[in-house]
Amino acid sequence: MYPVDRQDARLALRELTAADIDAVATIYGSTEVTQHLSFTPRSRDEVDGIVARSMASATMSPRDEYALALAGRDSGELIGFVRLALDPHQQRAATIGGALRTDAWGIGYGREAVRLLLDLAFTDLDLHRVWAARSPHNRAAAKLLLAAGMTEEGRIRGHVHVRGAWRDSITYGILREEWPPTEHS
Ligand SMILES: CC(C)(COP(=O)(O)OP(=O)(O)OC[C@H]1O[C@@H](n2cnc3c(N)ncnc32)[C@H](O)[C@@H]1OP(=O)(O)O)[C@@H](O)C(=O)NCCC(=O)NCCS
Repeated sequence: MYPVDRQDARLALRELTAADIDAVATIYGSTEVTQHLSFTPRSRDEVDGIVARSMASATMSPRDEYALALAGRDSGELIGFVRLALDPHQQRAATIGGALRTDAWGIGYGREAVRLLLDLAFTDLDLHRVWAARSPHNRAAAKLLLAAGMTEEGRIRGHVHVRGAWRDSITYGILREEWPPTEHS
C-alpha cells in the first residue's frame, strides 16, 4: 500500500520525505530516546541512509516495510518515527516500533501513534496479528503497549545485542479480533 495517509485526533501517519531528515536525526541522535532501543544514537549520515532506504522500500511491490512519519495532523511536522514491518516467516503478521521526540513525550501521542499503526495493520493491510518488543527496563513502553490494548506475551531471552551485551525483550501482541479494544478491556 502506498502512500499511507492516516489521521487521528491530533496526529497523522504519512510517508517520509527527504525534508524529514533533520527531524528524524533529532530523534535517532538522542541518547535519551535510544536509551532502551536496540541501537545506539545514530549519526546524521546514518539517518540520511535510514530515511533513503525507508523511502525506497515504500514504493516496492509487494511492500513489506512501512517506516513512516508520525506528524502533527495540522502542521505536518514530524514528531516521531514509526515502523511496521511484515514478518517474513509468518502469515499476515507484523512487528511495530517507534520513537517520539522527547518534547512530545507524556501527552498521549505514543498511545495515539500505536492506535494509528494498529489501524493501518488491521484496517488497511488486513493483518491477523501484530506484535512489539521492548527492553525489560523500558517502563514507558510497557505502559504504552498495554494502554494501547496489547497483551504481554512473554520474554525472548538474549534477543538483542546492544551496547556490548545481549539483552532480553518483553513481547506484546494483539490479534485482529481484539482490535479496536472496547472501553473496558
Ligand atoms: C515510549 C514512548 C513512545 C511513549 O510515548 P508517550 O507519548 O510519552 O506515551 P503516552 O503519553 O501515550 O503514554 C502512554 C502510557 O505510558 C505512560 N508513560 C509514558 N512515559 C512514561 C515513563 N517515562 N514512565 C512510566 N510510564 C510512562 C503514560 O503514563 C501512559 O500510561 P497511562 O495511560 O496508564 O497513564 C516514548 O517515551 C518514546 O519515544 N520513548 C523512546 C523510544 C521508545 O522507547 N520506544 C518504544 C520502543 S518498544
